[in-house]
Amino acid sequence: MKIILADPCGFCYGVKRAVEIAEGAVNSLPAATLGPLIHNPQFTDELAAKGVGCKDSLDQFSEGETVIFRSHGVGPDIYEQAIEKNLKILDATCPNVKTSQRKAQQAFEEGYQPIIVGEKNHPEVKSILAFAGKNGIIIESKEDIGEVPLVSKYCVIIQTTFELAKFEEILQALQAARPGEYRVERTICLATKERQNAAAKLAAEVDAFIVIGGRNSANTRHLTELVSAICPRCYQIETAAELSPEMFQGCRKIGISAGASTPERIIKEAVKAMENMEINKVEGNEFEAMLDA
Ligand code: F3S
Repeated sequence: MKIILADPCGFCYGVKRAVEIAEGAVNSLPAATLGPLIHNPQFTDELAAKGVGCKDSLDQFSEGETVIFRSHGVGPDIYEQAIEKNLKILDATCPNVKTSQRKAQQAFEEGYQPIIVGEKNHPEVKSILAFAGKNGIIIESKEDIGEVPLVSKYCVIIQTTFELAKFEEILQALQAARPGEYRVERTICLATKERQNAAAKLAAEVDAFIVIGGRNSANTRHLTELVSAICPRCYQIETAAELSPEMFQGCRKIGISAGASTPERIIKEAVKAMENMEINKVEGNEFEAMLDA
C-alpha cells in the first residue's frame, strides 16, 4: 500500500507563524490567546499544558499579563484596551490580514466607502471592518448589495479565504447596482486554494483518502466535502487513534491531507500509524510516505 501526502497540506504560513508566536509566549507567562489560536483541541490542550491558556475577552486578563492576538487579527479598539490594561501584546495577526486592515483604514481616510466581501461572522472579516471607519460594510452575497449606500467612490476588500469566482460575481453585480469609481483590493490568499487543489488532484488518483483535522474546523470539513465528491472512500479523523486496518482493506493507494489548523505532529502520527498497520505487514506492500519530501 502506498501512502501519499497532498502537497501542500496542513498549516499555512500565517497559522504556522501564529503557532510559533504562541509557543514562544512560554517565556512571557502568564499568557493566553484571545480566542482559540487554531481550531484543534489537541493543540489547544498542549498549549495550555505549557502554561499558555485561551481567554474569550480582555476582561479576563489581569494587568501585566501577555495577550496573544491570533492570525485573524483584532480591531483597533482591542489594541487600545489591551494597552490601557497594561497588557503585553504578542501580535500574531497574519501579515496578509494586516494588509487588508491597512487598506480598509486607508480607504476610509481617503473618502472611499469601504466594502468588505466575506463571511459576516468570520473573525478576520470583523477585524478588517473594525479598521474601516464608521461607514464600513460587509457583504456576503449579491443579496446584501441593497445595503450598500449610494456614493461616488467605493473600495472593495476581500476576505483572504473567499472564493474568487463567487467574489467576481458579487463584484459585477455590485458595480451594476452601484456605479461609481472603484478601487478593488484583491486581498485573497492562495494558501487555502492551493491546499484544496492539491487534495482534489490526489483524490482522483487514490483508492481511499484520509483528511486529518479538528471536527470543529470549517476548513477541514470543507476539504473533506471536496475530497468525498471525488473519492467517496474518504474518512475525516482528528487523531491517529481513529485509524483502523478495515478502512484500507483492498486499497493500493491512500491519499492524506490535513486542514490548515492541523499540526504537523498529528499528521506524522497518522502516517506512522498507517505504516505500522497489520494489513500492510500481512500483504507485505511497500510504503511511501512523502511527509518529508
Ligand atoms: Fe494568512 Fe492566508 Fe493563512 S491569510 S492565516 S496565510 S490562509
